[in-house]
Amino acid sequence: MSPFHLTRTLPEDATDAALRADVLHGLTATPKTLPPKWFYDAHGSELFERITELPEYYPTRAEREILIARAAEIAAATGARTLVELGSGSSDKTRHLLDAFTGLRVYVPVDVSESALTQAGRALVAERPGLAVHALIADFTARLELPETPGPRLLAFLGGTIGNLLPDERAEFLSSARALLSPGDALLLGTDLVKDEEVLVRAYDDAAGVTAAFNRNVLSVVNRELGADFDPGAFAHVALWDPGHEWIEMRLRSRHAQTVKIPAVGLAVEFAAGEELRTEVSAKFRKEGIRAELAAAGLELAHWWTDGGERFALSLSVVR
Ligand code: SAH
Ligand code: AVI
Repeated sequence: MSPFHLTRTLPEDATDAALRADVLHGLTATPKTLPPKWFYDAHGSELFERITELPEYYPTRAEREILIARAAEIAAATGARTLVELGSGSSDKTRHLLDAFTGLRVYVPVDVSESALTQAGRALVAERPGLAVHALIADFTARLELPETPGPRLLAFLGGTIGNLLPDERAEFLSSARALLSPGDALLLGTDLVKDEEVLVRAYDDAAGVTAAFNRNVLSVVNRELGADFDPGAFAHVALWDPGHEWIEMRLRSRHAQTVKIPAVGLAVEFAAGEELRTEVSAKFRKEGIRAELAAAGLELAHWWTDGGERFALSLSVVR
């Protein structure tokens, strides 16, 4: 079996310290917010996988369609010997790239979810003799230290996860991504596209309630990690389209006035009846916007591929 390494670039207690800082800052702000990376404990990662199979949640199927159609072109355009994937999760769609990249030697999945990395990494090395998997537990919004691996490198950020960053975080992220790349390396970016509001809202408010459970999971994470006493059932799942920002917002709406205690940060947080806590934005994009955001980070849009329904796009930038 080929090697599987798991490196924790976050210190053991960093999650706790970072969560405390985010909770302290986000739950004392107006309006209240929490960053979406805290959805993804082992249960949240499982819920996300269930979301990808929902009839309403089209992005995963649309991106898979593009990957199947274009993996050979991406392999030819990049000649990558190392694939680094940010927010890799189950690495499921990535298999289409791994199949097409005949010269690939090393796969570096990067994620905050240790359970997702371990499961995906172990399965991949068992399936693919000759591929080394060097998984990194890391926060892709912080400075990344990648292992020394053979070039050229392809840095992939799939699933539309870039849309979960706020615009200034996105700009910062793209500049940092560019700084990780050398001439001959490339960035492959998956972005969900602006479309009919009804289709978008249904994708984030499914009939089976899986997205609602995913949204409320952040409260269970804060309860477990910080000893808080959130009653997740006391918050309603809200998904709405913001046409000005062109993003979906997920929120948790307090069903009644309540006080939540969070002992680890010494907070008693008051929620008014109907008050909302923003848990995620999921921005939707247009081609010219992506071209401009890449250019601002010193990257040139070289290829733009969409699925047949023009719901989702993959873009490729090769560094000269
Ligand atoms: N790329 C996969 C998974 C997308 S879900 C797909 O397309 O299906 C988003 C993934 O990003 C999750 O696995 C989550 O754990 C990870 N993630 C979210 N915020 C992160 C952060 N700040 N740093 C690293 N990983 C993060
Ligand atoms: C990971 N990310 C791209 C998902 C999205 O669509 O924004 C997370 C998600 N939130 C609700 N459903 C899925």
